[in-house]
Amino acid sequence: MLKQPSITAPVLTLLLLSPWGVTQAGDAKAAEAIAKQQCAACHGEDGNSMVPTFPNLAGQVEGYLVDQLEKMKSGERQVAEMTAFVANLTSEDIKNLGAYYASQNAKQASVPESDLEAAERGERLFRGGFKDMQVAACMGCHAPNGHGVPQMFPRVANQHRDYLKKQLLAYKSGQRKSEGGIMNDIAFRLSEQQIDDVSAYMHALK
Ligand code: HEC
Ligand code: HEC
Repeated sequence: MLKQPSITAPVLTLLLLSPWGVTQAGDAKAAEAIAKQQCAACHGEDGNSMVPTFPNLAGQVEGYLVDQLEKMKSGERQVAEMTAFVANLTSEDIKNLGAYYASQNAKQASVPESDLEAAERGERLFRGGFKDMQVAACMGCHAPNGHGVPQMFPRVANQHRDYLKKQLLAYKSGQRKSEGGIMNDIAFRLSEQQIDDVSAYMHALK
């Protein structure tokens, strides 16, 4: 059994001091029209998208959705495809959209035969971390079932494998910045192989 490295003191301090968690619940119903008219083409009507480059939003953690939309609006997270769509959203719209997608049901996925070995290696990393490089178990922050933890640890279960992989590579290169550098620090210590493996596993978590 691998010994799980614990979350380091600075990260813990950051989590406790940050303004995260103060998000007020939005009104899902009020966001339905925007979601259907402006977001459905890419993310699907119910937040389950058909195309792997467009992330699933169904069942995502509400506070995380709100935080990312605010970051895309301010340009802190740059997503070219989304720029035009977030520009006109008010903070009220963003809160309501967060509530809308959080309340949708995520579609289940399974691991294809050909990915079983990769997913098994990925499972060890997700559950046990990577001791050699002091990487904590992913489930410590993303929950054992990958459903995330309110308000700021995103769901990684039932997400497209290609999208997960792309994000981990973007954190690794520093192209996407995470709050307090948490995910940059983690992804930097992982090999591309490990990133591929853990994505294969997370995508099919139930
Ligand atoms: C033209 C396609 C397109 C449209 C329309 C669109 N998005 Fe996106 N969205 C994307 C892409 C592509 C990404 C991920 C980019 C990346 O790889 O980082 C994304 C990412 C996101 C994320 C981050 C998900 C995560 O897990 O971090 C959220 C939240 C989101 N979109 C919400 C919305 C909402 C709400 C709308 C409507 C107001 C919308 N999007 C409209 C293409 C689109
Ligand atoms: C100390 C807590 C912590 C640990 C441990 C952790 N994560 Fe994260 N993870 C986060 C936070 C917080 C975010 C959102 C960061 C941001 O602001 O971009 C995140 C984001 C992500 C995302 C992007 C999700 C999306 O929808 O775009 C992926 C993928 C991810 N983590 C995978 C992993 C993997 C794989 C591991 C283990 C090797 C791991 N995480 C370990 C806290 C953690």
